[in-house]
Amino acid sequence: MTGRLVIAGLGPGADDLVTPQVVQALDMATDVVGYIPYVKRVPPRPGLTLHASDNRVELDRATHALDMAADGRTVVVVSSGDPGVFAMAAAVFEALDTDPEKWADVDIEVMPGITAMLAAAARAGAPLGHDFCAINLSDNLKPWDLIEKRLKLAVAGDFAMAFYNPRSKSRPEGFARALQVLQAECGDDRPVIFARAVSTPDEMLRTVPLSQAQPDMADMRTVVIVGSSRTRIVGRAKGALVYTPRSVPA
Ligand SMILES: C[S@@+](CC[C@H](N)C(=O)[O-])C[C@H]1O[C@@H](n2cnc3c(N)ncnc32)[C@H](O)[C@@H]1O
Repeated sequence: MTGRLVIAGLGPGADDLVTPQVVQALDMATDVVGYIPYVKRVPPRPGLTLHASDNRVELDRATHALDMAADGRTVVVVSSGDPGVFAMAAAVFEALDTDPEKWADVDIEVMPGITAMLAAAARAGAPLGHDFCAINLSDNLKPWDLIEKRLKLAVAGDFAMAFYNPRSKSRPEGFARALQVLQAECGDDRPVIFARAVSTPDEMLRTVPLSQAQPDMADMRTVVIVGSSRTRIVGRAKGALVYTPRSVPA
């Protein structure tokens, strides 16, 4: 018997930012698998088993989900935002890659969600309106030297940048180092957007010039967007807008 495995993004937090496709997949699921706070976002109902697990057990969680689908269950693995952005889709495929034959009959579908940087950018204006990159600042799965190298190259390429996982209690120093790199390489006025818990009741957005950006302005619920050299702030009585123009003069 073979079942189905959906890897779905729940969006940044608000119910109305979950796609109808994901809502439908959750309605049909027999099992939902994911990190505790994300599984909490799925309402319990008869016939649905919720499997919540802790951080840093992504491969065990992925293997469990694949095994349940192979047993004929209809499984949804949930991530926040988009499941392909620093999240469970890659983890499921890493698990699958260890033994592709074992799960060869399982139907697998990835359903996109609204990732944090896009939800945050929409609140601020259009800071990602031209070329940009996204960097995960966590050094749990890659060395810090590589993060610093990518940061410097992104600055050299004059990309706007979105930083995920900027700062956690166990890694308080990484984001401070990232800010030092940026402050050494970019102008003082470069806009930095700290977007916390976007689309939830705890949402807070704050835009400061790079010279005033402080490490403690970010935590694990914050995505940080740093403008390119072209990013501008338009002052308005209804609140400033940050945008990056679509063109760069020749
Ligand atoms: C493990 S990553 C998961 C990213 C997720 N897959 C996505 O596409 O948004 C967790 C990081 O995403 C960012 N994040 C997730 N939801 C957010 C929200 N509602 N507001 C701001 N940042 C958020 C934060 O940087 C957080 O540390």
